[in-house]
Amino acid sequence: MSGSVVIAGGGQAAAQLVVSLRQGGHEGPITLVSEEDMAPYQRPPLSKQYLAGKLERQRLLLRKAEYFESKGVELRLGRRVVGIDRQGKRATLDSGEALRYDWLALATGSRLRRLGVAGADLPGVHYLHSLANADRLREALRPKRRIVIVGGGYIGLEVAATARELGADVTMLEALPRVMSRVVSAQVADWLTEKHRESGVRIRTQAKVSALIGNGRVEGVETDGGSVEADAVVVGIGVLPASSLARECGLKEDDGICADEHCRTSDESVLAAGDCARAVNTLLGTAIRLESVQNAVDHGQVAASVILGSPKAYSSTPWFWSDQYRIKLQIAGVAAPNDETVLRGDPGAGAFAAFRLRRGRLSAVEAVSSPREFMAGKKMIAAQLAPDPALLADTSVPLKDLLPAR
Ligand code: NAI
Repeated sequence: MSGSVVIAGGGQAAAQLVVSLRQGGHEGPITLVSEEDMAPYQRPPLSKQYLAGKLERQRLLLRKAEYFESKGVELRLGRRVVGIDRQGKRATLDSGEALRYDWLALATGSRLRRLGVAGADLPGVHYLHSLANADRLREALRPKRRIVIVGGGYIGLEVAATARELGADVTMLEALPRVMSRVVSAQVADWLTEKHRESGVRIRTQAKVSALIGNGRVEGVETDGGSVEADAVVVGIGVLPASSLARECGLKEDDGICADEHCRTSDESVLAAGDCARAVNTLLGTAIRLESVQNAVDHGQVAASVILGSPKAYSSTPWFWSDQYRIKLQIAGVAAPNDETVLRGDPGAGAFAAFRLRRGRLSAVEAVSSPREFMAGKKMIAAQLAPDPALLADTSVPLKDLLPAR
């Protein structure tokens, strides 16, 4: 198997594509172009163990530098793909160099949503997307420092937990009525809010940030409900797909690069994988854009299968996790806001699960420190089951009894 592969991007999807290609016997040249200076690394610890200073930098690497060398993979670090000539099958780098490809994989990930208010670019305002961001933020999270977090999503809650563990004083400002409303039910959101409050985080919902203020450095946040003093501000208000390259070269794009169930874009020589891609998931029966490690890994494998000549379809149950304090939140499936919620277990005891149902069928499970419920729910979603809500809620009924016999 030959043919040259150029990969734009150096995250989890890109790394998986490289690994799957070489494992599958692809012998042609592979060039991975990443704007970051570090070889592909894991992002999840950036808001958790790494931010807390509990994990060494080298342990973040998805593969050691020797791996790429030994597999004949060329890493172009600190470089960006800035243009694509689809007719001539060339990717141009910011250095001016053009790389010829037989296959181009766009694994460009996501880009930060920036806070669009006055003062948002003052020193002391942080975002968390890259290792470089995490290194800077680590310096700011010191005991007693007043940290104001804008956004109560994954970044906001994980950084809040880490910052509290490090002894910082934390205030969170969330625009919507609940934290994490993009991904969890009202019941789980309220429970998480309570746990953060018990740990000393001040959480304000429906807060509208109007400006960041400070003299040469951020000193406070102005909101519709008054101002909050800050030594540092962390903004985690979501991400957008990094799909401008695709758009500029005329590939189909709609909140992400459109791809079929094989991660093929509207150009059959160009694949899209990871956060930047809106690929068809045959299990869910729709195209979906997800921001998760698992999705990036699956896409990397699917894209590799196409290049290797035996295309696999993308058809897995999406899953996500988040660690906050000692709480382990595991989510499988994707719920819509109006999906019904059935609770199993006692939230007061610290471990429970919210099962989400759409027209009777299980759409998602949100398991709080309940790995068994997570695993069973994930299997039920994959089997497209419509479990009886009364049985789901009844902890005397083992969940395995609701699964189809093997
Ligand atoms: P997010 O989409 O999870 O949460 C953003 C939050 O900010 C939402 O609650 C939203 O309502 C709020 N918000 C938006 N505009 C606001 C404003 N102007 N003022 C106040 N609040 C506002 O995005 P987040 O947390 O920034 O995460 C970024 C990316 O990192 C996502 O792709 C996420 O999936 C990923 N991530 C995932 C983790 C995990 O899976 N455990 C951990 C950390 C990050």
